[in-house]
Amino acid sequence: MSDDSPSETAVRRDRFSGGPAREFLSSLAADAAIFAADLDVDRAHVVMLAEQGIVDDDTAGEILAALDDVEAAGHDALPDGEDVHEAIETAVIDRVGADGGKMHTARSRNDEVATCIRYRVREDLLDVAEATVALREALVATASDHTETVMPGYTHLQPAQPTTLAHYLLSYEAAVARDTGRLLDAFERTNRSPLGGAAFAGTPFDVDRERTAELLGFDDTVRNSMDAASARDFLAEAAAAYAALSTTLSGLAEDLVIFANKGFLELDDDYASTSSIMPQKKNPDTLELTRGVAGDAVGELTSVLTALKGLPRAYNRDLQRVHPGVFDIAGVVADATDVAGGAVSTADWDEPALATAAGEGFSTATGVADLLAMAGLPFRTAHEIVAAGAENIEDGDDPDSAAAKLDEAAQDVLGESLFTHVSRADVEAALDPAASVASRDSAGGPAPEAVVAELADAETDVAADADTIEARRDALSEAFETLDEEVASYV
Ligand code: ARG
Repeated sequence: MSDDSPSETAVRRDRFSGGPAREFLSSLAADAAIFAADLDVDRAHVVMLAEQGIVDDDTAGEILAALDDVEAAGHDALPDGEDVHEAIETAVIDRVGADGGKMHTARSRNDEVATCIRYRVREDLLDVAEATVALREALVATASDHTETVMPGYTHLQPAQPTTLAHYLLSYEAAVARDTGRLLDAFERTNRSPLGGAAFAGTPFDVDRERTAELLGFDDTVRNSMDAASARDFLAEAAAAYAALSTTLSGLAEDLVIFANKGFLELDDDYASTSSIMPQKKNPDTLELTRGVAGDAVGELTSVLTALKGLPRAYNRDLQRVHPGVFDIAGVVADATDVAGGAVSTADWDEPALATAAGEGFSTATGVADLLAMAGLPFRTAHEIVAAGAENIEDGDDPDSAAAKLDEAAQDVLGESLFTHVSRADVEAALDPAASVASRDSAGGPAPEAVVAELADAETDVAADADTIEARRDALSEAFETLDEEVASYV
């Protein structure tokens, strides 16, 4: 819209002469993300103004009808303005006349934008939390098919001890569960209404802040009006929760890339990509992108904290630059979460390859040492015997020859046969990866019965978090129904 359009003069006419800085000042394009939020914030505010007798019912009705019309026209149809708040007000004045400007009684853009941001972020937090729940369901479902699927476990990326695929997947379910928790914690502190705090210093009008909070589905108000306008730590908290989740995802993605590389799994075609030149290639690109999203998310957290650091009270325009990136990264992290879950549940796991690799690198060594220690040898001595045996044991040795090599080592260390302490059959069993896994049945361990108990707990926890999210969504929908009814009573 040109600078001399009628709309241009509706709000704060002739305050500024215009020029190249105007575009720099404007957040109107980015504010598309809070267009819906701002309309509801306007509605709740106008309903409250009418209820408090600050604006008469007829004027409130006209403003509320104009807001419906502005909503139907969409964000792109808004007149020019410094931001969506100003543009919507201008659009209302264009429809209602000067009385439309009464909608901005007893508030400021400062409490208004803070309310819009919280309104948007709480929805993003629930969306991302929901994605984490779906990922956890995928991890649990795949784990429940693989409680007996023996696979290698690594430390330092070196074969360490055999475990099961279920135990591995549940380790990530547990981590993502904490990510869900962080997102829901952030929701608690985000879901507070700054509206009615005005510029920062409150208002002489008899506003009912609890009422607007209620109409907008907030659990409470941000009490101190200066804090209400200024606080953006909820953005840091949301960004931190996204960054933590994306870091979890990056580890999972990296493992899956490595597993694909080792031939432990084949990704579904949807989750792989081909090479434009090398015809034989099937690359784990979606997982590499998932791994890469952590860079964006950590960068966003850094951006938020850096923007907020050292900002004086109360409102400063720096704040306009903080929230758009937090909205964006929520979508990116939710997508990465969906992709991780889809990749896990559609992957074709090669159980024989996993079983073969599980025994490589004498991964059962710790189990043999544990066996000797259980027979009464000091663990340190057991460790020494097995370490000496490990020098000669090679991948592909059958249990019989591996046991013989361990016995030789025992003769060297103890001066007597290993089999004066343990039976040869027990040693050979300890050398079997599946038996080794089955023996480690401590709570949270990989033995199938321990994993089955862990699976049951994980299922309960996932369902509880899904219920919490649904209850949050229901509470928001209920508030919006009430708001719609109140609006309808004036229009
Ligand atoms: N678009 C602005 C923002 O996002 C609105 C607040 C403007 N307030 C002010 N005092 N200049 O932060």
